[in-house]
Amino acid sequence: MSDVKDVLVRIGHELKSQFSSQALSEAYARWFREHKAELWPLDRYKYIDGGGVYTGSQSVHNPGREGYRYDVLHPVTRRPCKQPLMGYRFPKETMYDLLAQGRVLFGEDETKIIELKVYASEYQEKLSSVLELDGRLGAYDLKEDFPEDGKVFSNPKPVRLYSAFFPFLLKQDGDFAVDFFAGSGATAKAVFQLNAKDLVRRRFILVQLPEPLCPKDTDQKMAAMLCDRMGKPRTIAELTKERLRRAGNKIREEQSQLSQKDADKNSLFKYMGEAQPTAGGKPSLDLGFRVFKLDSTNIRIWEPDRENLAETLFDAAEHLKSGRTEQDILFELLLKLGLDLCQPMEQKTIAGKTVHSIGAGALFVCLTPRISLEEIEPLGLGIADWHKELAPAVESTVVFRDSAFADDVAKINLTAILGQHGLKNVRSL
Ligand SMILES: C[S@@+](CC[C@H](N)C(=O)[O-])C[C@H]1O[C@@H](n2cnc3c(N)ncnc32)[C@H](O)[C@@H]1O
Repeated sequence: MSDVKDVLVRIGHELKSQFSSQALSEAYARWFREHKAELWPLDRYKYIDGGGVYTGSQSVHNPGREGYRYDVLHPVTRRPCKQPLMGYRFPKETMYDLLAQGRVLFGEDETKIIELKVYASEYQEKLSSVLELDGRLGAYDLKEDFPEDGKVFSNPKPVRLYSAFFPFLLKQDGDFAVDFFAGSGATAKAVFQLNAKDLVRRRFILVQLPEPLCPKDTDQKMAAMLCDRMGKPRTIAELTKERLRRAGNKIREEQSQLSQKDADKNSLFKYMGEAQPTAGGKPSLDLGFRVFKLDSTNIRIWEPDRENLAETLFDAAEHLKSGRTEQDILFELLLKLGLDLCQPMEQKTIAGKTVHSIGAGALFVCLTPRISLEEIEPLGLGIADWHKELAPAVESTVVFRDSAFADDVAKINLTAILGQHGLKNVRSL
């Protein structure tokens, strides 16, 4: 529905930049006649003035019990206008303000109840309790992303199902949609599309089992073949990911087609009637996502072999499981520290070691298996320089692999160097 609102705000803006007063009304009246059929539910917005496209609303009527009673004189006949059945919804002072703002619409004469001027840009969509959607929409939406791949998912939900109510639930940057049965990923596509439209930075968490796909199963054949073509394991989770990639790419293409002028005009539309964002504005549209698999901890559980305690103790020196990647350990660390898994991440090589900065320097992590005595100073000073450069707003934490240090002296030295540069929170895994 808000598409229609956007169209009316856009056409209002364009016609106002070309016409004024009578010519403006005539130009809009022509446009309106041509497009009325496509404007539901805003097909009553048939007027235009310097403020844009508007309609007359009966919201002066007091709903239910007796409201305010006073006279509003008709500007031409100078006679009191007919009052709404239960009186006016607001007191005389408010009416005077509305009259002063030119927000009151009068009929031919005083026999018609006044109406309020409501601009299309002010239109607030109502969440209707019943949503009628064509059951085939889900399959059409999927075809948009998988035009060549046949039926890759059975009974996908229509994206419009989510985009119909998400604006009422996910209103602010950082608001989340969580879908535990992600399937075709329609939830995430709806979030991407809404974010691209109104620049709100909504987020999503999708959970999808790596449910296997069998090429022998007629319902799964196309999906399995698509996974083969992508060189990916034959699972539904691979489809979900692929759908998000394709939906994101499509929006990127659409955005890039919008010329800088259009983009400026669009964001201007967006803020019509709202204060323009402060300097610095909003970061660009984020159409990315991170994929995680549930797995056991990277940290080896202490299970002493009572027959062979010495060896167990020796083995425990290295308590990170072998075969796990630095990424695995890094994300377990974020989880354990309660940090957002989608924090911005950077990595640098310092003194020949890979160092990760998470959350623009809120956390520095170096999981290198060995740090020699000679490397302590260049590594410590390098991390301190990076910390200075990033100047994080929060106190930073620095994490190393405990078994990386040749001995405690090395660890104490590095902690001291970092401490001298304001990095007091040093931990080891
Ligand atoms: C009915 S489909 C969901 C369709 C989805 N809403 C869409 O629009 O495409 C259910 C999905 O949930 C997945 N699923 C079932 N049990 C699950 C579980 N315990 N955890 C995660 N995903 C699960 C199935 O693999 C299937 O893809």
